[in-house]
Amino acid sequence: MKKRFAVLTSGGDAPGMNAAIRAVVRTGLHLGHEVVGIHEGFKGLLSSNFRLLTARDVGGIVQQGGTMLGSARCAEFKLDTGVQKARTILEAANIDGLVVIGGNGSQTGAAALAATGFPVVGIASTIDNDLLGTEISIGVDSALNVALEAIDRIKITASSHHRAFLVEVMGRNCGYLALAAGIAGGAEAIVMPEVPMEPQVVIELFREAYQRGKAHAIGVVAEGARYNAATLAQYCNAQKDQVGFDLRVVTLGHVQRGGAPGGFDRLLATRFGVTAVECLDQDATGVLVGLQKGQIVCTPYALVAGKTKGIDQSLVRMIGMLAA
Ligand code: F6P
Repeated sequence: MKKRFAVLTSGGDAPGMNAAIRAVVRTGLHLGHEVVGIHEGFKGLLSSNFRLLTARDVGGIVQQGGTMLGSARCAEFKLDTGVQKARTILEAANIDGLVVIGGNGSQTGAAALAATGFPVVGIASTIDNDLLGTEISIGVDSALNVALEAIDRIKITASSHHRAFLVEVMGRNCGYLALAAGIAGGAEAIVMPEVPMEPQVVIELFREAYQRGKAHAIGVVAEGARYNAATLAQYCNAQKDQVGFDLRVVTLGHVQRGGAPGGFDRLLATRFGVTAVECLDQDATGVLVGLQKGQIVCTPYALVAGKTKGIDQSLVRMIGMLAA
């Protein structure tokens, strides 16, 4: 039976969202259904900002960052009344199922809608990599590569001037991006919320690097760490003589979110998008589509929504081994 599905992107954009939209639309059409795009996330849902999408509408976007549907954060959808209103609007538009592409807050909202009995399937998409139910989300790999390019460049100028840099990366309350960028970027210090570190320890790590004869020292700091880069810099500058290096701060911010998706994210997003529509087609809904042990896995919202993934301890334990 021909059905009508809808797709929206919500929360912070992530490189690869467009590839997921494209896969959702084309898989839906391939299976004989219609696919409606909802502009600006749940905010657009609540104002019926809908548009029927064709295969051509999603042409040429697989390689583009951002989201062609636009995204938003929506306070009204956090209320029960907002969720009920969304259900009423979707039913009035004859929509039989919804794909929600987004991160933690978005999937919590999607789970609330699914709990009303409306068919919803979530796609894990956030550069923060904090979603339970998936080892990696859409956008993480591309954002990591942006951070690494920045760190590599900073290292060059740092070495020329014998400086230390604190590079702050995004991640909200999750330290994954900082941890991965710190390890893959060869940082001297990695500061993240999950592994509390006092400013004095950062100072010592920089001083040790200086004493070992390094030409630079890099500290990667998660934005959600107890001491952010600016605060750490204040401590370091107050004890300049102990640090050894002159110190600068770089905050990468939204630069990490805006780039084109790499091959990994394009493929991951496409796999997630195809699976999400197959789930709707087969009435296997109320799940989050993610990646586990290389396989696409659908986990019931009840097990994952509103929860966050802990930091990968197998990566944490390597930090001390690699600093030399
Ligand atoms: O959740 C993705 C994210 O980029 C976080 O890393 C960051 O803390 C937040 O969004 C920034 O939100 P906004 O784009 O609304 O400023």
